[in-house]
Amino acid sequence: MEKLLQINNIHTSFQTHAGEVQAVRGVSIDLYKGEAVGIVGESGSGKSITMMTLMRLLDSNGEIKEGEILFEGKDLVKLSEKEMEGIRGNDIGMIFQDPMTSLNPVLTIGDQISEPLIKHGKMSRSEVRKKVIDMLELVGISSPEKRMKQYPHEFSGGMRQRVMIAMALICQPKLLIADEPTTALDVTIQAQILELMKDLKEKLNMSIIIITHDLGVVANLCTRINVMYGGIVVESGKAREIFYNANHPYTWGLLRSIPNPKLDTKERLIPIQGTPPDLLKPPVGCPFAERCDWAMKICFDNMPENYNISEDHYSACWLNHPDAPKVNRNDDGRDN
Ligand SMILES: Nc1ncnc2c1ncn2[C@@H]1O[C@H](COP(=O)(O)OP(=O)(O)OP(=O)(O)O)[C@@H](O)[C@H]1O
Ligand code: SF4
Ligand SMILES: [Mg+2]
Repeated sequence: MEKLLQINNIHTSFQTHAGEVQAVRGVSIDLYKGEAVGIVGESGSGKSITMMTLMRLLDSNGEIKEGEILFEGKDLVKLSEKEMEGIRGNDIGMIFQDPMTSLNPVLTIGDQISEPLIKHGKMSRSEVRKKVIDMLELVGISSPEKRMKQYPHEFSGGMRQRVMIAMALICQPKLLIADEPTTALDVTIQAQILELMKDLKEKLNMSIIIITHDLGVVANLCTRINVMYGGIVVESGKAREIFYNANHPYTWGLLRSIPNPKLDTKERLIPIQGTPPDLLKPPVGCPFAERCDWAMKICFDNMPENYNISEDHYSACWLNHPDAPKVNRNDDGRDN
């Protein structure tokens, strides 16, 4: 399989009155053609900023300090703003975290979806209209001729999310980035949107990066999962490895907090205690040390290296050092 994207050791910071916020601290993620990968982690772990770095859409106080982002071999970090404009929308489509702020309330859905096609000026008005109707149909919006004349407020949350997908896909990008595409939706609609993305991935042979704080969301869609914490990827591997052979204590915590429909969720849902690290003064050692039941002295003093667990699976945890005690995820007794 051929790689579409290679994010290599990206560091992104924001200058604020309080100091430098080190939001992304050396993230590396690979993506193959036609593959879906997940980025999972709790609020503030740097998921969105990693993708905003890729899209070169950082706020004005943000800066890429280090690293490269190879997309089809081209380093996006080095491209001019004009060159990036050509890539955004055309080669890489993005669904942003908040659909209501991404849709313009005073423009019809049809006008918003067709905007990039009109901007490129390569199609006649009737061709654009046909393309928009086809796309609305593809994302499962019925009566597209009627619906394209309506405004965002006339759509339900789930339908708005379908519109967002149609907007991101209208130029047939090679890569779709979806930032929390289902968080605001109820469980049934959530499942429908994920099914739609899976279906579109096959139909359009597209690669997908999906961001979520819920491991359950990526289980069916993604072949590989990257778990982020405190601005770094703490564990990365094939989805089945992450679900059945997770290595990092933070991933164990995430797995414990997935609701299990077969069990009494009130009893089984165990949130991870504590708060994430302050990225103004990131810890020198493992970012999870303050909250980890297995933390050792070395964890506070030194950043763990990435230990290979199996092919294509690594974990940044000192427990994999040959001198560390042998533990497994049930050792704290809370899971029994
Ligand atoms: N413009 C900014 N100025 C200063 N800090 C920022 C800015 N944008 C983001 N950050 C900080 O960068 C860190 C990472 O943010 P990011 O949005 O990537 O988190 P996330 O993992 O996407 O979280 P969530 O699940 O809440 O969306 C956070 O600490 C955030 O406060
Ligand atoms: S490196 Fe140490 S603190 Fe970090 S997750 Fe592993 S055991 Fe816990
Ligand atoms: Mg985010």
